[in-house]
Amino acid sequence: MIKKVCFLCALFLTLQGKAQKFEGLALTPPMGWNSWNTFASNINEKLVLEMADVMVNSGMRDAGYIYLVLDDAWMAKERNSNGDLVPDPVKFPRGMKFVADYVHAKGLKFGLYNCAGTKTCAGYPGTRGHEYQDARFYAALGIDYLKYDWCNTEGITAKEAYTTMSNAIRTAGRPVVFSLCEWGNNKPWEWAAPVGHLWRTTGDIYHCFDCVYDHGTWKSWGVMQILDMQKDIRQYAGPGHWNDPDMMEVGNGLSAGENRAHFTLWAMLAAPLIAGNDLRSMTAETASVLTNREVVAIDQDSLGIQGFRYGVKDSVETWMKPLKGGDWALCFLNRGTSSKIVSFDFKKEEVTDTVSKRTLGSATTYALRNIWSRTSAGTTKKPLNIKVPAHDVVLFRLTAQQTKKK
Ligand code: GLA
Repeated sequence: MIKKVCFLCALFLTLQGKAQKFEGLALTPPMGWNSWNTFASNINEKLVLEMADVMVNSGMRDAGYIYLVLDDAWMAKERNSNGDLVPDPVKFPRGMKFVADYVHAKGLKFGLYNCAGTKTCAGYPGTRGHEYQDARFYAALGIDYLKYDWCNTEGITAKEAYTTMSNAIRTAGRPVVFSLCEWGNNKPWEWAAPVGHLWRTTGDIYHCFDCVYDHGTWKSWGVMQILDMQKDIRQYAGPGHWNDPDMMEVGNGLSAGENRAHFTLWAMLAAPLIAGNDLRSMTAETASVLTNREVVAIDQDSLGIQGFRYGVKDSVETWMKPLKGGDWALCFLNRGTSSKIVSFDFKKEEVTDTVSKRTLGSATTYALRNIWSRTSAGTTKKPLNIKVPAHDVVLFRLTAQQTKKK
């Protein structure tokens, strides 16, 4: 009876074009690992179990990376005779429930991928026309996160398609973080907050700092290119609904400084932190970037205010992010290929954030902590004079002295 009422309710909402996502699931940006950036379609049970183990053993889980998400290509090429999705029996010989249970037993949450179209981007069965059936399948498996892509969607509209799947998830009854992946084509930031918990703002990321990779019919984007595409949408992000500039390429061939810069900027953007590297073979340097708790804390700050580019001089950008308790994060990003000396006189800057209405004024003195060097760096009474290496960042946390708690 309850199921019937739920179904009718969801049908009504769908017809109205309204969604009723599960609230409270992503009050801070989701953190986890996703298979696509490194493994693409080459995924299998062994890989997932090993990744679950290493998420625990490497300290990733305890740093906050909770979601293990399998991207495209986990399915067999055809649905079964009932129209149900079938996990690829060769890649996943013990089925997906076994995998989900293993992941959960590690204290992690489990996610899967599908697509609003007839087929996924890699050519596996898409969900179109099977939304409620697939949502029930996911609920039975016990998944906690669904990434929902946008290939092969000719003739349907994004808002309706994502709303339908959101309602299907709701009706299936298991709380699932719903990750929209329509690449920002239909401005999801304007309509998706009631529908899902995060939405991609761009096409796919590429594992370079500053380049465009041309695939012929489409392009993927370097870290700096993706960063520039986040302009003018920060007011749409907040607890429960995040702009998603794509999964990270930290540890996928970037230099140490570039890894730091990429990770720092994602934290400044309050972006979902979804690692995309092979955690089993990551270097100590990559691990120390991904698990830097002070940077993670900036990303996960409970105010959920996306940071902004305050200024640009030469090749150096100044980024600011208001944090809880009156703190601020301040980041200098050097996009150039030679190191730069940066001066910043807090007495001469009056930073006002138009979105949060917060001001970083000279009336308040802040203590400065250099986060990557783990050192204190004086106060805002004195101008900063720092060197920012090429393709790197210097990141500070500012704590108002009079509000500092013991
Ligand atoms: C699209 C998405 C990627 C990935 C692939 C899988 O390109 O944007 O993140 O999920 O599909 O095929």
